[in-house]
Amino acid sequence: METWAIVVAAGSGTRFGGPKQFALLQGRSVLEWSLATARLACQGVVLVLPPATPGDFAVDAVTIGGATRSESVRSGLAAVPDTADVVAVHDAARPLARVELWNAVIEAVAGGADAAIPATSVTDTVKEVGEAGHLVTLDRSRLVAVQTPQAFRADALKRVHRNGGEASDDAALIEAAGGQVVLVPGPPDNLKVTSPTDLLVAEALIGAERR
Ligand code: CTP
Ligand code: MG
Repeated sequence: METWAIVVAAGSGTRFGGPKQFALLQGRSVLEWSLATARLACQGVVLVLPPATPGDFAVDAVTIGGATRSESVRSGLAAVPDTADVVAVHDAARPLARVELWNAVIEAVAGGADAAIPATSVTDTVKEVGEAGHLVTLDRSRLVAVQTPQAFRADALKRVHRNGGEASDDAALIEAAGGQVVLVPGPPDNLKVTSPTDLLVAEALIGAERR
């Protein structure tokens, strides 16, 4: 079973105020944290970067991202060899994903699912804001929040990306195509660095783990 990782790091970090994937977290970049774990879990790693990014990264291939996350994933996918059986896509912005989580999603796909994704229960009440500000409160017991890494059968991921497609995660494209997506428990500390506050929380979590 040959498994490859695509680590997408080509975003601009608008909400953070700059490219957060290069921000330092306990002495190494958010991206380096993500790459180190991808390396442990997969035979090959493709890194997707913004154009003209300086630096030397210990990966098997580097590609240039696109205007959207989905375009960036497609850029990385083009560098994954045909021998790959499983492809795991990970947001560089989730530096705290552990190798056990990578292994769990990969094993679920090896066991027969088209895709496996980490999910957590939602703790906030979630409302949909409709036209003219009309609110609809969603049934929280039926909602999950989804993380990365997300693992896919390589041929299934390639198929759904073949004709473009835009979504905030790759599993959405599999769902839309009628594929089978299974959920694995998402650790609550696998946060995505979105705002500067998230970086402070990540620092605290890593510090607490080392103590
Ligand atoms: N990403 C990417 N290419 C894009 C957009 C996003 O590779 N065109 C990557 C980001 O680098 C990040 C992951 O996808 O690792 C998740 O995206 P997000 O958290 O939204 O990061 P940004 O798009 O950079 O942030 P923002 O939406 O605030 O601009
Ligand atoms: Mg974004």
